[in-house]
Amino acid sequence: MKKELISEYKQITEKIINNDKFQKTKEDLHHGSNKYEHLIRVSKCSFILGKIFKANIESVTKAALLHDFFFGSRKTKKENSYLNHPKTAAKNAKTYFNINKLEEDAIKSHMYHHVIIKKVLPFINRNEKAKVKDYKPNSKEGWIVCISDLIISIVETIRFELTYIVKLSFLIIISAISLRHFN
Ligand SMILES: [Fe+2]
Ligand SMILES: [Fe+2]
Repeated sequence: MKKELISEYKQITEKIINNDKFQKTKEDLHHGSNKYEHLIRVSKCSFILGKIFKANIESVTKAALLHDFFFGSRKTKKENSYLNHPKTAAKNAKTYFNINKLEEDAIKSHMYHHVIIKKVLPFINRNEKAKVKDYKPNSKEGWIVCISDLIISIVETIRFELTYIVKLSFLIIISAISLRHFN
């Protein structure tokens, strides 16, 4: 990124990133890394897409940075589930960072990709019901946050799986060599 873009990104995000509550997201696992890193990646992706598609850059970056701003994993509490956590994150973002309506709506609709995937593959997350229209983004900023989250989640998941496969293969090879050595 160019120097001016880096400083603009910093100016928008600095206050949130340095906040103690936001720092707590470092404690939560998310797509194989911690939630803090996921939020930073999605906000950078949204910032760049926001520039390309001429969105409200402050709102799209803030909404992306706070889109998963909930505490704990998606499996521990009902309000953190796959389809409830956008509301929880929006509520927390409002409480701690006084976000506006555009940012709130963008956070609430960021799981639209999951709702669409559920329609195509109904066996995914069968316990939760969702109507497509309830999750559809209603602004350019909302679409950007949703698409950035999808892109980054896919990259993080592939990276995590690949690391796991490489580590497992390494262990198998070492075990096989050790067994051969001792037999
Ligand atoms: Fe999410
Ligand atoms: Fe996310």
